[in-house]
Amino acid sequence: MQDKSSVGYGVGFRSLTREIAEPVALSVAGALPAWLRGTLLRTGPSKFEVGARTYNHWFDGLAMLHRFAFTEGGVTYANRFLKSNAYCAAERTGKISYGEFATDPCRTLFGRVAAIFDPKLTDNCCVNVSDYARAAVAFTETSIPMRISPETLETLGVFGYGAALKGQISTAHTHYDASRRCHYNYIADLGLRSVYRICAIGDDGSERQVAEIPVERPAYMHSFGMSADHLVLTEFPLRVNPIDLRLAGKPFIQNYRWEPARGLVFHVVEKESGRLVRTATTDAAFAFHHVNAFLDGGSLSVDVIVYPDATIIDQLYLARLRSSSPITATGKLTRFQFSLAGKAPVTRRILAELPFELPRINYDQHAGKPYRYVWGAGIKTEGDFLDCIVKVDTETGEAITWHGTNLYPGEPVFVPSPSGRGEDDGVLLSIVLDVGRDHSFLLALDAATLEELARAEAPHAIPFHFHGNYFPATA
Ligand SMILES: [Fe+2]
Repeated sequence: MQDKSSVGYGVGFRSLTREIAEPVALSVAGALPAWLRGTLLRTGPSKFEVGARTYNHWFDGLAMLHRFAFTEGGVTYANRFLKSNAYCAAERTGKISYGEFATDPCRTLFGRVAAIFDPKLTDNCCVNVSDYARAAVAFTETSIPMRISPETLETLGVFGYGAALKGQISTAHTHYDASRRCHYNYIADLGLRSVYRICAIGDDGSERQVAEIPVERPAYMHSFGMSADHLVLTEFPLRVNPIDLRLAGKPFIQNYRWEPARGLVFHVVEKESGRLVRTATTDAAFAFHHVNAFLDGGSLSVDVIVYPDATIIDQLYLARLRSSSPITATGKLTRFQFSLAGKAPVTRRILAELPFELPRINYDQHAGKPYRYVWGAGIKTEGDFLDCIVKVDTETGEAITWHGTNLYPGEPVFVPSPSGRGEDDGVLLSIVLDVGRDHSFLLALDAATLEELARAEAPHAIPFHFHGNYFPATA
């Protein structure tokens, strides 16, 4: 019998290379809602070794796609590597061939010189899977999303942006505006003159640049905010001199510098006109994830999971995680508020004390609108990795949790009940790693109470990963 107390979270950062291409039925304990008919698609880093080398950072690993399908007959599971150019080149050559978040490729001296003129952007889409222009698309933080088959997990090719949306860096967290039937994203075009391009991608496949914001030292921005009529680019003071990305010879993120004197800068752009409505600055902070944003009587609220600085990026290097080192940099749900007119200062307020990450909301009904509930993967035990699922009431600051010994849950995806009227009427789907049993299971919770409804045993341990979405079955 394994001594469970000695098992740290670090086992969640081992490689999983086994692929199950044909869906297998999972045994289910408990009862899933009868209305749950669809597919949960997720992506995350799954292979951390190539040849003799190991990637440096959690965000670097080669992407694996996971699929849980819910039918009348039960739940099935399949997983396949994303067959990106980065993956295929690594398989073919036995070498890391594309630069990732914090790892540079193997290069000869000649290759190093050549790379200055021809930097290969990675297409290793290990960050998110969502629908985009009516297709299932996997994302990383470059401008090269990949289309995938939601049925077979086959890699179908690059989701190509048109020439008008030129740029290199982007986000895996697109926003969808149901009333305008389009997704929004930004693409940073870095060079001698750098710009953020905010773009709209229509359900019909159309592409449009909404706005262009010039920037001297671009920020690392993992996500952005959206209210009903505005988009919010939040520039954290983690900044890069674009020339360094070409010439410094360091992995991507190591070219960025923490420059707190720049503060935290919100750029608010009107969706319809593309007009920059306000640029507001406040004290420095860092974040990966925006939660929601909404306008209330001329005052814009922007809710973000806030860290005091960018130390969290350093704490997610692979060697550190694999040794189950304490995570001391934690993020808290924070509301920034400012008026769109005038120059009144930005206020900030922590909405919940329990640290958490990977936030989700009832997006279909509340994206860009006033809302009450946020779900996420939280930290109940100080210093631990994400060890609970949390539901936060943004009005009262109350938090309830679901947790268990040796259990490490991933992002809880909210699936609304088809008959539900309440904001929290639905289920949460999360992949949980049981480090004591070295196995993962899909967990379904009542989103209102966090009571456990069911768990479906996966065929193996699934490494900690990032994001994904539920795709309802089409009639
Ligand atoms: Fe993210």
